[in-house]
Amino acid sequence: MPSSAALTVESLGFVVGGAPILHDVDLEVAPGEMIGVIGPNGAGKTTLFNMISGIHAPTTGRVLLDGRDITHQPVHRRALAGLGRTFQTSNLFPGLSVLENVRLAAQRRLGGNLSVLRFPRRSDRASTVAMEHLDEVGLAGLADVLAGGLSHGDKRKLEIAVLLAMQPGVILLDEPMAGVARADVPGLSEVIRRMHRDHHSTVLMVEHHIDVVMGLVERVAVLHQGTILALDEPDRIMADPLVQSAYLGAPV
Ligand SMILES: Nc1ncnc2c1ncn2[C@@H]1O[C@H](COP(=O)(O)OP(=O)(O)O)[C@@H](O)[C@H]1O
Ligand SMILES: [Mg+2]
Repeated sequence: MPSSAALTVESLGFVVGGAPILHDVDLEVAPGEMIGVIGPNGAGKTTLFNMISGIHAPTTGRVLLDGRDITHQPVHRRALAGLGRTFQTSNLFPGLSVLENVRLAAQRRLGGNLSVLRFPRRSDRASTVAMEHLDEVGLAGLADVLAGGLSHGDKRKLEIAVLLAMQPGVILLDEPMAGVARADVPGLSEVIRRMHRDHHSTVLMVEHHIDVVMGLVERVAVLHQGTILALDEPDRIMADPLVQSAYLGAPV
C-alpha cells in the first residue's frame, strides 16, 4: 500500500570501510509534522540528513518524498521535488545583501533570470516575495545589510527566509541553533515555530538544545549508534528509561 507520508526513510543503512554508520533506520514523517532528531555526537544525525538530501548514497534502503522513490536522485533534483535543507554551517552568500540572498532563491523558483549583477529593483516580483519572507523571519529592517555582517542568530533566520523562498514541502534543519547566542535562541525558535505553523511545512530538525526541541516538535526520534532507539511524543521520550540511560546519561 502506498504511504501517505511526506517523507519516508526505509531500512536505511550506510557502511563506510566496513563500519556501519547507519543501520535499519525507518522513519515516516506525516505531511505538516515536525520531528526532532536528537542523539549524542557521532550518532549519525548529519549522515542521515546527507542520505535524505542526496549528498551521499545509502548502502541499503530507500528514501521516498511524497511516496516517490528519490534514493538515486541527485541533490538538485530532490530540491526541485520540494526538499529543502539548512546545514550545520551556514551556506549564505556573505558578500550579498540580506535581501539579495532571499531574492536569488525566490527568482530561481519563479524561473527568472539568475543575475546577481543586475541591481535589484524593489518592484520586481522576486524582490517583493523576498521582502515578505524577510518580514516573516523578522529581518525586513536589515534587508540592505550584507549577509556576512549578521549575527549568528540572524544568519539562521536568513537561511530560513531563503528556504521559504524556495517553498519546499519538506525541510531538514541541521542544528539551527548551533553557534547562536543563548539570548537569541527563543527568537529563532519562534521563527521556526511560525514557519512550521504558517506554511504547514513538514520538518525534520536535528538540535542539541533539548528544551528547544521538546517545545517545538510533535515527535522526537532518538538516534543512537546509527539507528533509531525511540520515536515518540516529547513527554514520553523524556520519560523513557531506555532513552535516559542511552542518551541523557541518567540511571535507569
Ligand atoms: N562520509 C563519511 N565517511 C566516513 N565516516 C563518516 C562519513 N560520514 C560520517 N562519518 C562518521 O559517521 C559517524 C556519524 O557522524 P555524523 O552523522 O556527523 O554524526 P552526528 O551528526 O550525529 O554528530 C561519525 O563517526 C563520522 O565520523
Ligand atoms: Mg551532525
